[in-house]
Order: sequence, then C-alpha cells, then structure tokens
Amino acid sequence: MLFHRRRGWEIPERLATPESVVVSRRGLGIAAGAGLLAAAGPARAQWPFSAAKVVEAPRAPLVSTKNEKFTPGRALTDEAEATSYNNFYEFGMSKSVIAAAQALKPDPWSVEFAGMTGKPGKIGLEDILKRVSLEERVYRHRCVEAWAMTVPWVGFPLSELVKMGEPKAGTKYVVFTTLADDKTMPGLHQSFYPWPYTEGVTMAEAGNDLSFIAVGMYGKTLPKQNGAPMRLVLPWKYGFKSAKSIVKVTFTDKRPVSFWEALQDSEYGFWANVNPEVPHPRWSQARERLLGSDEMVKTQIWNGYGEFVAAMYDDLKKERLFA
Ligand code: MTE
Repeated sequence: MLFHRRRGWEIPERLATPESVVVSRRGLGIAAGAGLLAAAGPARAQWPFSAAKVVEAPRAPLVSTKNEKFTPGRALTDEAEATSYNNFYEFGMSKSVIAAAQALKPDPWSVEFAGMTGKPGKIGLEDILKRVSLEERVYRHRCVEAWAMTVPWVGFPLSELVKMGEPKAGTKYVVFTTLADDKTMPGLHQSFYPWPYTEGVTMAEAGNDLSFIAVGMYGKTLPKQNGAPMRLVLPWKYGFKSAKSIVKVTFTDKRPVSFWEALQDSEYGFWANVNPEVPHPRWSQARERLLGSDEMVKTQIWNGYGEFVAAMYDDLKKERLFA
C-alpha cells in the first residue's frame, strides 16, 4: 500500500530481498502451535530482524470439502509465492515480513463479540471450529496495488461467524479488529498509523455467499504472515479489506472508518470494490500482475465475481463503490 512516510527503522524493500530469507517448509503436517518460533520476538519488537534464516512455524493439515462453485479460471499461485510476498503492516511495510511475522502467536486464540451482540464476550477459535464445517475455495485475490494471486483458502462462510455473535436487530455493519500487540509487532511503533487495523462490511456483504473466514490455505493452517489463525477473505474487494489475525467482531449501526480509510480516504475508501475503469488516484487499475509469473492480465469488474455480488449494490449507486 503506497502511503509512504519512511521512518528510521524501515529498510527499503530492495534491501529486504526475499533471497536473503531461507524459508524451511520442512515439518509441515505437525500440529499448529507445536514448537512455534525459531527466534522469539524481543520484549519490544524491532526491525530489521537479524535472522538470515527464517524457520516458519509448522502448519497443521486441514481436512475440508472442496467447494467448486467459485471457479477461478486461473492457475493457482505457487504456495511459496503466496506465502512470502505479503502485506502485514503490523510487521513492517515491506513485502518481506515473513521473518518478523514469526513472532505472532496464533495459539491459543479467541475472538470477542462486541457492540450490538446477543453474545458479548470471547469465544475460543477451537469452539468456533467445532461449530463449522471447513471447505476449500479457490479465489482470486486482487490487491489495490495491482498485483494478484489465486489461492485455495480453507475456512467457512463469514455468515456462520456472524450468526455465532447473534447480532441484534438494527445492526448494519460488521467491524473486524485485528491483533495489535506492541511486544511482537514492530509496525505498531509507527504511531501515525491508526492502529489497530480494522475493516468493516455491511450486514448484506457479511451474509454474501462469497464472504469467507479463512483458517488455512493450500490445505494447511494459515501461515503467520498470511494472517494466522483467522482472516477475512472478500474476493470482489481490494485485498486491504481482508483483515488478518482477527481478534474482535463488532456489530454496529454506524458505518466504521477502517484503517486505510482513516489514513487516506481518497485512495482507500470504505467500499473498495474492484473496478478496472476506476483508477487509483496514483495508478491505473486496468491490469494486474500475477504473483509468480509476473504476467500482466486484465482486471475484471468486481474481480470477476459480479454474478454473486453486483446486485447488493443496486441501491447504492450514489456511493463511491470502487475506490
Ligand atoms: N490485515 C492486517 N491486519 N494488516 C495488514 O497490513 N494488509 C491487507 C490485508 N489484510 C493487512 C491486512 C492487504 S493491503 C492485503 S493486499 C492483504 O492483507 C494481503 O494478504 P496476503 O499477505 O495474505 O497476500
């Protein structure tokens, strides 16, 4: 995301080359939470991390049913690409946050329901998972920065999580607040950012078939850098709406101001639906670069998911739906 105010602790992306990071994918299949960190984060997180070698936490295999309703029409992105080119500003502004993100502790995890809820308080991720069936869905993901990937997510419909929170009558929006832990997240010391990272959708969007809570990708639990242990996936919207490492779900009748919107509303609005015809104020959105091949392809309106989502916006034409 190009909101750029470089500070002393940052290093330019060209210096944080992925080549300097050797990722060990050995040990896959071992239960998540076992032997988490190669190097635990310091008391107050700092950047850059000195480790030349990153050992990723083992990821547990997940059993799920394939849901082939949403065919991507594109080849899957290599897992190694999708899990090493990330946006996770809590861990730094470069795409190479994989080392820093190993400080995230996804187990145990709970989510708090707040606001207009009939079930205020926390629910453990394990309890959430007992109440849902996991499915695998392959979605296209389109970042507002004009790169894209195609990922097999494992998770469950967002509507299931909303149901668990028992939103009260009159609820109009669902707000997602993500982890903000200044002991492990160096980005939090950038005080000009409006931490914690939050995102929001309307109740109609939350209930859409496509809206998904991912707890895994590529058949295993989520890597930390991709938002372990649970994140939002809204494939018709720019990727910044897909909040990672969710700790709170708030039901409200007031439209929330999300993280990027608070920083720069003119560039990152509330709706953020993908549209190749509406350029970002500083670059075109007509095409996108596929992670891995670097092939440039045409961007599709609603990221190609119009048949599932466009009708939700029929009465909202006066809103700034695409920026
Ligand atoms: N969630 C949190 N908490 N922090 C972030 O910086 N970045 C967003 C989104 N969710 C972000 C986040 C952006 S801009 C994108 S494009 C996607 O996560 C990137 O997801 P990925 O790293 O799994 O590709």
